[in-house]
Amino acid sequence: MSDILEQIVDRVLILDFGSQVTQLIARRVRESGVYCEIWPFTADAERIRTYAPQGIILSGGPSSVALAGSPRAPDVVFSMDIPVLGICYGQQTMCVQLGGSVEGNDHQEFGRAHVDVVENCRITDGLWEKGAREQVWMSHGDRVTALPPGFRAVAVSEGAPFAMIADDDRRFYGVQFHPEVIHTPHGTQLLRNFTHAVCGCSGGWSMAAFRPAEIKRIREIVGEGRVICGLSGGVDSTVAAVLIHEAIGDQLTCIFVDHGLLRQSEAEQVLAMFRDRFNIKLVHRDASDLFLGALEGVSDPEVKRKTIGKLFIDVFEEEAAKIGGADFLAQGTLYPDVIESISFTGGPSVTIKSHHNVGGLPERMRMKLVEPLRELFKDEVRALGLELGLPKEMVGRHPFPGPGLAIRIPGAISKDRLEILRRADAIYLEEIRNAGLYDEIWQAFAVLLPVRTVGVMGDGRTYDFACALRAVTSTDGMTADVYPFDIKFIARVANRIVNEVRGINRVAYDITSKPPGTIEWE
Ligand code: XMP
Repeated sequence: MSDILEQIVDRVLILDFGSQVTQLIARRVRESGVYCEIWPFTADAERIRTYAPQGIILSGGPSSVALAGSPRAPDVVFSMDIPVLGICYGQQTMCVQLGGSVEGNDHQEFGRAHVDVVENCRITDGLWEKGAREQVWMSHGDRVTALPPGFRAVAVSEGAPFAMIADDDRRFYGVQFHPEVIHTPHGTQLLRNFTHAVCGCSGGWSMAAFRPAEIKRIREIVGEGRVICGLSGGVDSTVAAVLIHEAIGDQLTCIFVDHGLLRQSEAEQVLAMFRDRFNIKLVHRDASDLFLGALEGVSDPEVKRKTIGKLFIDVFEEEAAKIGGADFLAQGTLYPDVIESISFTGGPSVTIKSHHNVGGLPERMRMKLVEPLRELFKDEVRALGLELGLPKEMVGRHPFPGPGLAIRIPGAISKDRLEILRRADAIYLEEIRNAGLYDEIWQAFAVLLPVRTVGVMGDGRTYDFACALRAVTSTDGMTADVYPFDIKFIARVANRIVNEVRGINRVAYDITSKPPGTIEWE
């Protein structure tokens, strides 16, 4: 169990059956002010009892309850005398485990569907009225065909006679649809009714409450020890460092390794914020020559990443040794990383690209870890950053990859190419900010292509690089869609880049989604 629980009264447990959207359940629950954790469905009964949740949510999952050996909820879930909400597969396994039945469905439902509300219940209170027809999001093959004793149907759909069910006495509820996705318009409120009205949670989880609790916890963990924290300029390491600094002041030293692959003015901004604004002890190592030297002539993306990752650890260790080492290493690990590492399949996911800054360092440095953001989702980290007084532009920053601009220049990189890219990227982002679009976009950046094209400027012929612009929307970086800019906007950006950046004479807009593309080009 995580230590943060000592400070938290209300909590809900989500048992994961492997749905792609389990994290969304947790985010919706957190957004309504209730702390929750996601555990694999195999969680031990004793551990669940000790966690003492106010309610349990069973997630969806890819399996079929009809299959022998398919996942089941631990029996303790139904004997703790607390409310349970089963979603999709969670509803089905609950029904089977409590005496109902489930069958393969001839009439599968995927995507937008409608349910007819045939009864009222506490989950639909104030949202859905008996007799109404409501929109939901379905994604199921199997369906419940007979209810366990004590249950009644609350809503029906064409493909699911038991689209929503309730056992009011035991406070067990089930939905065949997915309330956690935005395509179920009342989904968030339905979940909120479960956590607040049924489970009785008060909704006191907020970053304002988390901040002092976490500060207290950091002080207890660290004691008189010394902590070092690697800064990347990204939101997570920044928020982690500022929070730890608030807890232990000068016992914290931050190390900022500048690999020469940062964007325009980025290093100056990091230095100004940490030294001037927060007065945090900071070691700044300009290692750009070292990194660029090692990368000379390297064009394979994985070799680039590995070279940068290895050097980063070397330089970080060197700097840490210079200040006499430390007892703890601070990391901006977030809850999605934690869930991933204890994924319900237990297996590692396929490595599409090696993300160098995940792992590596802690094993090598043999230090204890301080990870104050381990329980938080990204949106919570941003809220915490604001709470700590970080500027809005800082906490709202788009993600930036550890290997930096090196993976935005396919082929070999050079100082000149980096400089060209920096200038194009800065113009693009400036235009996006001025148009008020920055916060709508998950990530936007320029890529410098190793391709020269012919152009004409004034009366002369040019033969310069092409540049690609990328902008995507996403919720977690795992999937992404192209951002649909107005063509006039993107044409204006292209025009500015070609006119203002010497070395680029052509601009293309990348409209590939992920999958099949990735967000970065390398
Ligand atoms: P891809 O390109 O895999 O990127 O679709 C998904 C998200 O991860 C970021 N990314 C990285 N972040 N170190 C990081 O810290 C890396 O090596 C790295 N590679 C990609 C990428 O910017 C996007 O947000």
